[in-house]
Amino acid sequence: MQLPSDVRGKGTPLLWIHGFPLSRRMWAEQMGALADRARMIALDLRGHGEAPATEGVYSMELLAEDCLDVLRGQGVQEPAVVCGLSMGGYVALAFYRRYPQQVRGLILAATRATADTPEGKKGREQGAAMARQAGAEWAFDTMLPKMLAAQRYESDPALVERVRGVMAGAKVDGIAGALLGMRDRPDSTPMLAAIGCPALIIHGEEDALIPLAAAQAMQAQIPGARLAVIPQAGHLPNMEQPEIFNRAVREFLDSID
Ligand code: MLT
Repeated sequence: MQLPSDVRGKGTPLLWIHGFPLSRRMWAEQMGALADRARMIALDLRGHGEAPATEGVYSMELLAEDCLDVLRGQGVQEPAVVCGLSMGGYVALAFYRRYPQQVRGLILAATRATADTPEGKKGREQGAAMARQAGAEWAFDTMLPKMLAAQRYESDPALVERVRGVMAGAKVDGIAGALLGMRDRPDSTPMLAAIGCPALIIHGEEDALIPLAAAQAMQAQIPGARLAVIPQAGHLPNMEQPEIFNRAVREFLDSID
């Protein structure tokens, strides 16, 4: 399947994988600020943004295969830095599991290695059913208040609207497919100690969806991993604190080149 992607910049190949139910538009500030440092590719995962939806469950492995197709389609054969945020982080871990030789460095933002709890799995199924009943806007309205640090959500309506715009385009099949794929994702914790590439973990200090402890746990297990904790940021540190986020990515790129 042909997925839409933006390409910008020169240097190390860097793939940006967005979260749920977002799109490649979430990386606008990174694509602007890091173009001198990396050849960046930002894709829309199937069913999100401008990408067509398919029916069925979107396993993280399936989405990882889509990511490899996008890299190949852009002529990238050499190992790339792979950055995934939240669900994108689950996809990045699946990508590493499948194609470790293709990964020059891993950036895991606002994500976790563990699988869903039994209650979490139930919640995914209810969410998928509700999205089918009530439509994509229901999913956007449900997710939006949890995405940003509480204070920012109250005080920065322009950012809230931008995040809504980043969600626009996600289709009901995409929302349901991604929710059920996240439900089924395996626990990546056993793989962490075997990650052999450089890794950077980035997490918002006030992330209400995935606690900071999840990032600290990954850092403790991935050999040599660094953790950048972003102050006054929730689940979208790259949009809430783009300068701090970009600095962490730039330092990471400098450290591996
Ligand atoms: C995301 O932002 O991608 C999702 O909130 C991740 C999740 O629900 O586990």
